[in-house]
Amino acid sequence: MEMKQQRLQREIEANIADRLGRECVFMPSGRIALYCALRTHLKAGDALLMSPVNDDVIYFTVLAAGVRPVMAPLSADDGNIDVEAVPAETWSRVRGVLTTNLYGLPDRVEKLRERCAALGIPLIEDVAHAIETSVGGKPLGSFGTAAAFSLSKHVDAGCGGVLALGDGSLRRDIEALRDGVVMARGPLQLAGDFVKPRARAVLDALGVTGALRSTRLVEVLLRAERGSAHRMDLHADELRRAIAQGAVLDAFEPWVRVDRNDYRMMPGVDALKRILARLRRLDADREERIRAVERLRRELDLVAPVACRGEPLPLFRVPLLVTDRDAVRAELGGRGFWAHYIYDPPLDDYAGAEFADPSPAPDAARWWARHVLPVNPLRADIVIAALRSQAPARALWAGAQ
Ligand SMILES: Cc1ncc(COP(=O)(O)O)c(C=O)c1O
Repeated sequence: MEMKQQRLQREIEANIADRLGRECVFMPSGRIALYCALRTHLKAGDALLMSPVNDDVIYFTVLAAGVRPVMAPLSADDGNIDVEAVPAETWSRVRGVLTTNLYGLPDRVEKLRERCAALGIPLIEDVAHAIETSVGGKPLGSFGTAAAFSLSKHVDAGCGGVLALGDGSLRRDIEALRDGVVMARGPLQLAGDFVKPRARAVLDALGVTGALRSTRLVEVLLRAERGSAHRMDLHADELRRAIAQGAVLDAFEPWVRVDRNDYRMMPGVDALKRILARLRRLDADREERIRAVERLRRELDLVAPVACRGEPLPLFRVPLLVTDRDAVRAELGGRGFWAHYIYDPPLDDYAGAEFADPSPAPDAARWWARHVLPVNPLRADIVIAALRSQAPARALWAGAQ
């Protein structure tokens, strides 16, 4: 690897390590960070407690690590794991816990850490949505046995990830694991590395802004990979064959690569510089997000109650709760804003009992997954203009109690 590339990776690691006070290892993507954490801290065949309201790519990453997903009961308040509702029988057989920190709303990470410590099992934090969220003054990513960051979310670099280690002495092992799955950038990616920064400069010169150029294009690309649903096709026969091979990432390639086909390729120098520049403005991004969340909850009746309590959080996405999400989403789409990160149906309904242990209490997850519309707070203008007149749907849940 080029010296320059290596130096930039070290600077990125140091930036996050300074925030967390933990050893960090650069990764080509968040999903590879998670894969390395799972391969390191769990054995093939182990059961892992996780949220059913999560990206399907993450579900397939768990399967690719040879681990059996066990779906947790969720809180209808925030769509994260309801720790108290996890049955004793489940605690007795899971060998690890994976958090989601959905949209930047923190998991009950202190309770989970306590439980995991008492059972002697690893807590793996997925901090993809929550790089700017703290609990009790401590940043998420500093609680678990390991924590996976994606640099495609708040950092918005379109590539890269970081794995933060509770035990820094694992660094060499983790690097070896990562290097064993990383693939060289092919001619197509190298051409893209050359063309993309120049295309970006042309769009900038023409005044085509981020909102305009990301939304429609992303929508078209994502639709192409997922059909018309929020979940990709499961392809049960192929999945059965992949699982039979054990923890072999190559076998899960068709599922794990969705939305990010270069997820196993280390970013080039230009992309690394972009990551670093954006990481360095994370504090400014945090301020912008907090102001935008404050404004959304002041001006819209639809913000989920959890995002309205206490000090506003620097959320990745702000959860709105709406009765007819398709209609609201289409209304926003008409204004050039497509909401993504909708995880509906919950993974246990999507995958079925053959491929995941179902939640013992699925209703809250189903309700949350059906009604939540995550919106980018940095697009508050469009969201407020489109939705000011919508009636809130929160009463639905209160009525169902
Ligand atoms: C909750 C969650 N975790 C992890 C990831 C993986 O991040 P990456 O795209 O960098 O692999 C995603 C991607 O959308 C995600 O939504």
